[in-house]
Amino acid sequence: MNPPLHRPVWAEVDLDAIRNNAAVLKAHARVEHLMAVVKADGYGHGAVPVARAALEGGATWLGVALVEEGIALRDAGITAPVLVLSEPPAEAAAALLAAELTPTVYTHGFAAALTAAAGDGVVDVHLKLDTGMRRVGLAEEFWEPAFARLAASPSLRVAGIWSHLAVGDEAGNAFNELQGERFARGLAMAEAVGLRPDLRHLCNSGGTTLYPALHHDMVRTGIALYGLEAAPGVKLEGLRPAMSIRTRLSLVKRVQPGDTVSYGRRWTATEPTVIGTVPAGYADGIRRGLTGKGQATHRGRRVPMAGTVCMDQLLVDLGPDADAEAGDDVWLLGGPAEDPVTAEDWAAWLDTITYEVTCGIGARIPRVHLGE
Ligand SMILES: Cc1ncc(COP(=O)(O)O)c(C=O)c1O
Repeated sequence: MNPPLHRPVWAEVDLDAIRNNAAVLKAHARVEHLMAVVKADGYGHGAVPVARAALEGGATWLGVALVEEGIALRDAGITAPVLVLSEPPAEAAAALLAAELTPTVYTHGFAAALTAAAGDGVVDVHLKLDTGMRRVGLAEEFWEPAFARLAASPSLRVAGIWSHLAVGDEAGNAFNELQGERFARGLAMAEAVGLRPDLRHLCNSGGTTLYPALHHDMVRTGIALYGLEAAPGVKLEGLRPAMSIRTRLSLVKRVQPGDTVSYGRRWTATEPTVIGTVPAGYADGIRRGLTGKGQATHRGRRVPMAGTVCMDQLLVDLGPDADAEAGDDVWLLGGPAEDPVTAEDWAAWLDTITYEVTCGIGARIPRVHLGE
């Protein structure tokens, strides 16, 4: 396909992979509801096309971090239920409801803001319990009074109760069981005062993969939907990575032993070899930390990056006998190769997690959605 802009660097997002992954997750979880977490522009994949593909694949809910992200889905014509995963400031309550987004609630202040914004209407809310993450959520000491207050509220209906796992991606970690028990206790207490949530949910991708007993009525999957490991080795069979990053060599040159390449002269040729220039760099999220570690693929073969990654360019060592010319495809992620470069490789090279890899691919790299 042709590069979309004047610079041949683009990310291809395979929407068939998203559809497939949603279906795989739903089949595995055996729950009625699958939430596709599409915050942060769909973990860098493009929230709107990913949301549509996930819904086509069987997702029934969407999850966002920001009211703005939910409004963007609505502006694109998406009508599926959207949960805002944290409370926004109270001033955002009216905008949240106007966009028909579902609020998460865990403070008295935000519940009051929603009540005021609801007017004479009734608003469905999802109540978030803190069962151990200690980030956001209602602390256990407040569960009983909050449940009682919500049970008596004429404006807020508790349509969901949920929590979030801190180590869902760790097999055999007893903290998951503990969070599961606390969550079950919270649900029982809520029921005892008459709350009847339609949806109870606890698991992210890691929990969905490793802890079937904690699936409840819905699982909320982000990273697995994009076909990536939640942690090394934590990935369901059948999931396919959706994102590839494709570039074309802007220049090819021969270097001789002793020649150095790029800023800081950190790479020295030890034999005559062919260096290719790739027109993408750290300003695109191709992180400078890949210097001395990163690889790409050229003509189906892995080649190492050579020298310091620059702001807009990087170099690859195509090898002494390379059959290469300017305009050749180079894939920084994915692509047609027996051993394509993966987000998991990047995560290892950069000492980070797959999430940060795709979220970090800059806005300067256009996303091209395949299979729309
Ligand atoms: C509350 C909540 N639920 C679900 C997810 C999805 O997590 P994952 O990408 O690990 O599936 C996230 C993402 O961080 C989250 O914050």
